[in-house]
Amino acid sequence: MTMLKLRNLSKRFGGVVASEDVNMDVPGGKITGLIGPNGAGKTTIVNMITGMMPVTGGTIHVGDTDITHAPAHEICRAGLARTFQNIRLLSEASVLDNVMIGLHRHERSSTMAALFGLPAAARETAEMTERALALLAEFGLTRFADYPAGGLSYGHQRKVEMARAMAAEPDFILLDEPIAGMNDVESDALADIFRGFAAAGKGVLLIEHNVRFVARMCSHIYVLDGGRLISEGTPDHVLNDPVVITAYLGGGDDA
Ligand SMILES: Nc1ncnc2c1ncn2[C@@H]1O[C@H](COP(=O)(O)OP(=O)(O)OP(=O)(O)O)[C@@H](O)[C@H]1O
Ligand SMILES: [Mg+2]
Repeated sequence: MTMLKLRNLSKRFGGVVASEDVNMDVPGGKITGLIGPNGAGKTTIVNMITGMMPVTGGTIHVGDTDITHAPAHEICRAGLARTFQNIRLLSEASVLDNVMIGLHRHERSSTMAALFGLPAAARETAEMTERALALLAEFGLTRFADYPAGGLSYGHQRKVEMARAMAAEPDFILLDEPIAGMNDVESDALADIFRGFAAAGKGVLLIEHNVRFVARMCSHIYVLDGGRLISEGTPDHVLNDPVVITAYLGGGDDA
């Protein structure tokens, strides 16, 4: 099984240490948790992994491939996909089109073939529409297929983002607060999707403020505070670790 490996990953913004010497293993076939108080550096880790932010130090590998300095599109081709804490959809475009964009990684026929309307290209477009519709069904979004994505509730928009990320058929998916703004029924449905993804041998990195949800989903959890890993292990271990309890109680602006 492939592994996403972070070694001594560091990021500084001027004087702010957003990440310092972070070591993490995200294996295929499992859901790995990443928690920590606001500003702990969780999103920064995802930004570095996906090539949206250059690292200050350290390395990122997918299996034996070093992707530390690879551009974002190469990282996508290497099999990584993400969702955003601040939703990023084409708000004017339909829900279906937003998901179709995710299928891009697997497009085979050339643009020329498509331009001349060659049968291979047409067949591919039909296949792509079918795959996108299947994903919408999986996420319970079928009835919104033709709606502009920007008109949906935040919870539904998050699901569109996840469908788009999964459309790329990634080997690893990085989820930045995927159940924010969702009720229990919705988050249970997503839990099933995440578990199915891991059961298919793929790796999931789950960032969440809902610690109960993370504890339920993950066999291994990493805890960040002030850019450093302060604890890791089973849910039982980290949630009872005095260092973690102190970070959560002491953290926050009103501490
Ligand atoms: N582009 C940036 N420029 C400057 N500082 C940044 C930038 N992005 C993040 N930071 C800082 O890095 C630190 C970590 O931020 P990050 O967004 O990674 O935290 P987080 O754990 O995702 O927090 P939250 O739970 O609120 O989403 C914070 O102090 C933040 O202000
Ligand atoms: Mg964040």
